[in-house]
Amino acid sequence: MTNASNQFASISDFDDKATELAQTRQHLHAHPELSFAEHETAAFVAERLERWGYEVTRNVGGLGVVGRLSQGSGGRSIAIRADMDALLIEEVPGLPYASRAPGKMHACGHDGHTTMLLGAAEYLARTRHFNGTVNLVFQPAEEAGKGSGAQAMIADGLFERFPCDAIFGLHNHPGAPVGSFLMRAGPLMAASDTVTIKVTGRGGHASRPHLTVDPIVVVANIVMTLQTVVSRNIDPTETAVVTVGTIHGGTAANVIPERAEIAVSVRSFLPRVRDVLEQRIRGVAVSIAQAHGATVDIDYERGYPVVHNTEAETAFATAVVTELVGQDKVSVCPLIPGSEDFSYFLEHKPGCFLRLGNGEDSAILHSPKYDFNDGNLTVGSALWARLAERFLASA
Ligand code: NI
Repeated sequence: MTNASNQFASISDFDDKATELAQTRQHLHAHPELSFAEHETAAFVAERLERWGYEVTRNVGGLGVVGRLSQGSGGRSIAIRADMDALLIEEVPGLPYASRAPGKMHACGHDGHTTMLLGAAEYLARTRHFNGTVNLVFQPAEEAGKGSGAQAMIADGLFERFPCDAIFGLHNHPGAPVGSFLMRAGPLMAASDTVTIKVTGRGGHASRPHLTVDPIVVVANIVMTLQTVVSRNIDPTETAVVTVGTIHGGTAANVIPERAEIAVSVRSFLPRVRDVLEQRIRGVAVSIAQAHGATVDIDYERGYPVVHNTEAETAFATAVVTELVGQDKVSVCPLIPGSEDFSYFLEHKPGCFLRLGNGEDSAILHSPKYDFNDGNLTVGSALWARLAERFLASA
């Protein structure tokens, strides 16, 4: 080894694997499995890792698979995560490798994420240009919400059984050029909370409202006042979203119902903003119900936390992607109001979540027309290989 460009993996090292990687990705695309049901996908991953010489642990937090590979005497260790699950979406037909599972599809590109980590896995096992331990984390049930795959793997002792100094992951990013990276230190993706507000009044005849407590009017007031939660309470240089997604109440025009309810989606990027939102939303619901003589029942469910990238690991990952694809293909990622359960890993370990452009003309995530761009497979495989090699480089 004479210089850095020879020492660490580059995209061209994967050129002769491009066809095989595309076949793998398209196989996974054709056979999507929902959260908590990734049996075939997990077996596919585990079988390959074993073939390449990894120490493989199955059923970590459900159907999670961890492949471990150590080389040399280095004490450092890295974890890299890919998600494996698909979605309950009917794919728009047309692709030769379209979903063969009716009503299910890889509409979020997790087929591509899994394939890129497998690409790196094969390379790292074959070349072994690192000194330390690589932990490849193939996670189920990213899309599951409560009790998702990341939470389940952590609860099953992921970081005790497979210690690591830092963890990295990525998501493809429709709208950005293929092979480009979007990077951001600090908050990247939103915390996502769901609130159900049930208002109980006193039902009666529509013609005699004075004998009732009308929950429809109460809920209508709550919906309008919720519009001020962000605009009047959150610093304008910070951001948050409060969206009332459902409103239900009543069965007939001539009946004042007993109950009405709404469901609210709440997004934020900072823990203290998240706390202010909960406090204000509860306050609005309780006080408006009280003002009208109604009672309220609030179910405030905290979902995925903020994806918060640590400074040092983000700087490191940014250096690696810049070496790999060049400065002109690396940009600052805007805040993303979507959420991602990689956030749970980042609550335990330093790390960085990256975004990889899926093409300017890519359908959006969770669209029935979405397809992961196979032009990214060599880039993503090279990224993970190089990141591991650089993280575990000999002194
Ligand atoms: Ni996704």
